[in-house]
Amino acid sequence: MNFEGGRELFSFDPSVGYLNHGSFGAVAVPVRQTHRDLLDEVDRNPMRFARRLPGRLAEVRARLAGYVGADPTRSALVVNATTATATVLHTLAPLVRPEHEILTTDHAYDAVLTALDRFSRRTGVRVRIAHIPLAADDDEVLARLMAEVRPGVTQLAIVDHIAAATAKLFPIERIAAALRAERVPLLVDAAHVPGMLDTDVEAIGADFWTGNFHKWAFAPRGTALLTVGPEWVDRIEPLVVSHGDPEGFPWAIEHQGTRDVTAWLAAPAGLDLLASLGPDRVRAYAVRMAEYTQAVVADAVGADRPYPGDGVSMRVIPLTGPPGSAAAFWPELRARLGDELGVEVNVNPWEDGGLLRVSGHVYVTDADAQRLAAGLPGLLRGAAA
Ligand SMILES: Cc1ncc(COP(=O)(O)O)c(C=O)c1O
Repeated sequence: MNFEGGRELFSFDPSVGYLNHGSFGAVAVPVRQTHRDLLDEVDRNPMRFARRLPGRLAEVRARLAGYVGADPTRSALVVNATTATATVLHTLAPLVRPEHEILTTDHAYDAVLTALDRFSRRTGVRVRIAHIPLAADDDEVLARLMAEVRPGVTQLAIVDHIAAATAKLFPIERIAAALRAERVPLLVDAAHVPGMLDTDVEAIGADFWTGNFHKWAFAPRGTALLTVGPEWVDRIEPLVVSHGDPEGFPWAIEHQGTRDVTAWLAAPAGLDLLASLGPDRVRAYAVRMAEYTQAVVADAVGADRPYPGDGVSMRVIPLTGPPGSAAAFWPELRARLGDELGVEVNVNPWEDGGLLRVSGHVYVTDADAQRLAAGLPGLLRGAAA
């Protein structure tokens, strides 16, 4: 399998098999050029650049919001999903009491759980974590999540649309409707959604939604959107207060003195590139590549093949470590796969073992999958590559 011109569109080290687009994305060469041109433009006249910035950012905001079906008047550009989540928690901090709870799942992103842990220590709020089995179908996901809702006590639910470590696709529209019926505000962590799945943020109707454009929508790193429900527009608190504060949302969130926002301005070039390649063609290839890699790797180590969900261009392979291996074995395995085998993947501890996640993309080929399948069994036993 080969996506013609896919590898050449990126600037990877030729020796690397890159099967981890999901973690940091990768910036295509033409988008990086647009970004560099913008950096050059800043220094030709920083004052003129600053004068034009509000209008240009309004255009970018409208384009990115429109792409995911969000209302641009209730959307703000942010650096990443982590910042969006921190902004929501910062806003909620003075509104909660120690008897309250925040609900999430055991698929939530590591840094989100860490932020919740700090929030809990700061406010006294309890974090309740719903266990969702990897193979749970949509009905079971919904039932398990809703069983953990405490009316009047649960002040926020944070649910992934596509989870990070497990790549699981959550039935987010149904979850949003069920939580709305219980009057529980929802933050949708859609970090992986823009570019990977068609989505309609308005139709989901969550109180808060965030998505990264630097993972699957070809934007330079540091480009994400935070969209809030109508009742939050005037209540959202910026993490950093700067000159834009008196103007309110979204400028109060977006503007931070001399912060470099050229990545945001280059994001439309990413959407244009995706459009020119054919989004359906890109997605179909990425999904097929992820499935193929999962199949050859699962065969090589005798593992199951969990199916995270339609249209998701990441797949996971459950792994068993050497007897007595500790949780640290999994990040070490990830590093060894990169350093010794030249294949980059994501590996995390999951239940009693590890979960290896592979990502498909236009630059991935069968050879990358086969290299991983050939080298993984030895490293999994703890042997030298
Ligand atoms: C589900 C999920 N949420 C949040 C994040 C955080 O994204 P960022 O590091 O861009 O803030 C990630 C990153 O992989 C993620 O997968």
